[in-house]
Amino acid sequence: MAMNHAIFETKAWQKLVSTQNNGNSRDLDSVMVKDFDGWVLDMSRSGIEANDLKLMLEAASQCQIQAQIKAAFQGEKINFTENRAVLHMSLRDDPSDPLTPKENSEFALEQLQLALEFATKTRQSKITDVVNIGIGGSDLGPKLLSESLRPYLSGPKVHYVSNVDPAHISVTLSCLKPENTLFIIVSKTFTTQETMTNAMIAKKWGGNLATFCAVTTNKEKALEFGIDQKSIFTFGDWVGGRYSLWSTVGLSSMIAFGADHFKQVLAGAHQADKDFLTKPLEENLPILLALWDLWNVNIKQYDSCAILPYEHNLESFARWFQQLAMESNGKSVDRNGQRVDYQTCPTYWGEVGTNGQHAFYQLLHQGTTITPCEFIGFAQTHYKDQSSHQILLANMLAQAKAFYEGHEDKKNKFKNFEGGRTNLTLLSDKPTPFRIGQLLATFEHRVMAQGFLWNVPSFDQWGVELGKVLAKGILESWNDSKSLDKTTQSLLSTIRKFS
Ligand code: F6P
Repeated sequence: MAMNHAIFETKAWQKLVSTQNNGNSRDLDSVMVKDFDGWVLDMSRSGIEANDLKLMLEAASQCQIQAQIKAAFQGEKINFTENRAVLHMSLRDDPSDPLTPKENSEFALEQLQLALEFATKTRQSKITDVVNIGIGGSDLGPKLLSESLRPYLSGPKVHYVSNVDPAHISVTLSCLKPENTLFIIVSKTFTTQETMTNAMIAKKWGGNLATFCAVTTNKEKALEFGIDQKSIFTFGDWVGGRYSLWSTVGLSSMIAFGADHFKQVLAGAHQADKDFLTKPLEENLPILLALWDLWNVNIKQYDSCAILPYEHNLESFARWFQQLAMESNGKSVDRNGQRVDYQTCPTYWGEVGTNGQHAFYQLLHQGTTITPCEFIGFAQTHYKDQSSHQILLANMLAQAKAFYEGHEDKKNKFKNFEGGRTNLTLLSDKPTPFRIGQLLATFEHRVMAQGFLWNVPSFDQWGVELGKVLAKGILESWNDSKSLDKTTQSLLSTIRKFS
């Protein structure tokens, strides 16, 4: 394995670190506003001054980030712990002018067409409700997509069931009728405990497997479950679960808002792919976002970041990004197998504005730790109440200003705002399918860029395995728990007593 290096070993990064505490006054007024294919990024309150950014860009270049991006697009097996390529970009590629290997983009297009045909037929059928059963990437991406494009919904109503808690599926099924409900069982592996448990419940409830379809890379398991061969859709194993919403995994969204809008989503993502692969570093939005992450985590030592979309239909955005970033880069062993001695992925969390303002912004304004914030907004709304939208945006602008500038109250220290709470704002015109595609793909690439710079293997997720194995063991020992550790035994006996 060739040795990879984190950005921290580069000369430019070391210079950046040494310039931070040299006592020179910092030019925080240098406004950094940049335009990227319909998006504007305002970094003027990021706390990063022009010279810092220059050094970080130099460091990223010394870290060979562009060569690493190129290798990913060429289909090198950069997910080396699973011996797989990372080619979710093929799902939105154009085989006549491909950015990724032709065989991948052609295969993706073939599968997409089958799913789109199925979606069109379903939209014309007596199906009124679609239940997507899946978890993690088989839930968060498609759910976010169909929610974020609510103004374009024109087909059956879509529901998402992920949790193995019986409450989730029971509540969902309670308002549905088996004869006009389609179930989509989405699972890359078709072995995920939560999904298979919910799928079995749905099978009993629905009774008729003709209204079941599956999206998986494990066709045998779907056939075993009883799903008809023609109703099984697939995608390549070079698509990670959390990067799969563009594939047949997006079937629920295809049914909900139709083939044309889905293609627009893919077109937006393709634009973001092209930009990520070809734009110079200083004009490359995902790279700038990744550098802001490294600035916050590795220079400022902040360990969390709030994602605050001022767009109600992006209410699941922070949750989706949480899996994307934290499952990808929540790692402490680098690509050479060494324990890292620097921080990697922060905790991402968030809520839509203005709801968050009335919940946790108190801490963001006056708490003891600084949480960098990201505002995402659109100048236009699809809805008729323009004045509400103006209020929404005024609040977003006010919060960004208040966090950074603060407000001195010499008389009443409880009313004092220290300021200096860094943030950035990402703005676009309207949340159309194209823009949503661009946004989500840009955030995917931000995570890929972070991984290259932190030198961690972003595309596996071994950290989720231990809990799965232990849960199986506990289930097997439910009535005879002697083989378990003392604490688990005691908790289990309490559960039994309370049952
Ligand atoms: O939680 C781990 C994980 O493997 C995720 O990476 C994935 O998105 C999710 O489980 C669901 O997996 P599957 O699609 O195989 O059911």
